[in-house]
Amino acid sequence: MKKQTIIVTGASSGIGKEIARYFLEKGDNVVINSTTADKLEAVYQELGAGDNLAMVAGNVSDKATGENLAQTALDKFGSVDVLINNAGIFETRPFLEVDEAYLDRFLNTNLKGTYFTTQAAIPQMLKQHDGVVINIGTPLVNHALGGVPITAQMASKGAIHALTIQLAGEFGKDNIRVNTIAPGTIRTPMHGDDADQSAGLHLLNRVGEVEDVAQMVYAVAKNNFISGAIINVDGGMAAGHNLN
Ligand SMILES: NC(=O)c1ccc[n+]([C@@H]2O[C@H](COP(=O)([O-])OP(=O)(O)OC[C@H]3O[C@@H](n4cnc5c(N)ncnc54)[C@H](OP(=O)(O)O)[C@@H]3O)[C@@H](O)[C@H]2O)c1
Repeated sequence: MKKQTIIVTGASSGIGKEIARYFLEKGDNVVINSTTADKLEAVYQELGAGDNLAMVAGNVSDKATGENLAQTALDKFGSVDVLINNAGIFETRPFLEVDEAYLDRFLNTNLKGTYFTTQAAIPQMLKQHDGVVINIGTPLVNHALGGVPITAQMASKGAIHALTIQLAGEFGKDNIRVNTIAPGTIRTPMHGDDADQSAGLHLLNRVGEVEDVAQMVYAVAKNNFISGAIINVDGGMAAGHNLN
């Protein structure tokens, strides 16, 4: 398979780190990003600090970070083939207690981060007449959970699902594919030690592992005929729940 250049945002932890590892193991070039430079540097070392790996620290809600990521991919590896918009935050707060600053944090990181990083990557993909954007969403945008107050999170992620479909429409003729992978509850630092409490949300009665998501991201990146799709990797959660 042709060696490609993959940009992964939010790659210093959890799902993003595993996605970076997965593509590196398969032989691709990877550019990793996260906000915290020392955390990113530690993961750069953990992933081997090899010739096929580069890093760019920065906040994805700042368009300059996306531009820096695309330029680094181009300068170091010669192309921008796959952008994985994985950087994201998750917290709970009751709807009536959400203020503008709190809502803005979600819109800035989750929505604007995805929007502007994609805006920075697409010009090079247009030159190549080839490219893939994979966003990380959630099946919960279409599947509410009473007792889990996440309106700010869902408003930002729902916008990512909508953006995915419209971008796929606008750039399909240019051979740029845009998809969203929507994971169920995945065991990552985002959930601390609490992830297994969500096992029963999934028909498989377990939470997912980061490898479950990385495998699907890789498959979608390499398949040339998937676009405009929202693909659940959710242990059956969108279909139903397991009552323990
Ligand atoms: N885990 C789940 O159950 C689950 C389920 C569905 C969807 N997701 C989505 O999957 C993605 C990854 O989640 P995760 O569980 O792997 O989370 P995680 O372990 O908390 O990792 C989040 C990553 O995003 C980075 N990040 C956060 N804000 C950023 C920003 N503004 N700019 C650049 N990097 C930023 C963090 O690094 P710094 O701290 O250095 O910024 C970290 O590397 C998120 O979009 C999340 O919403 C997760």
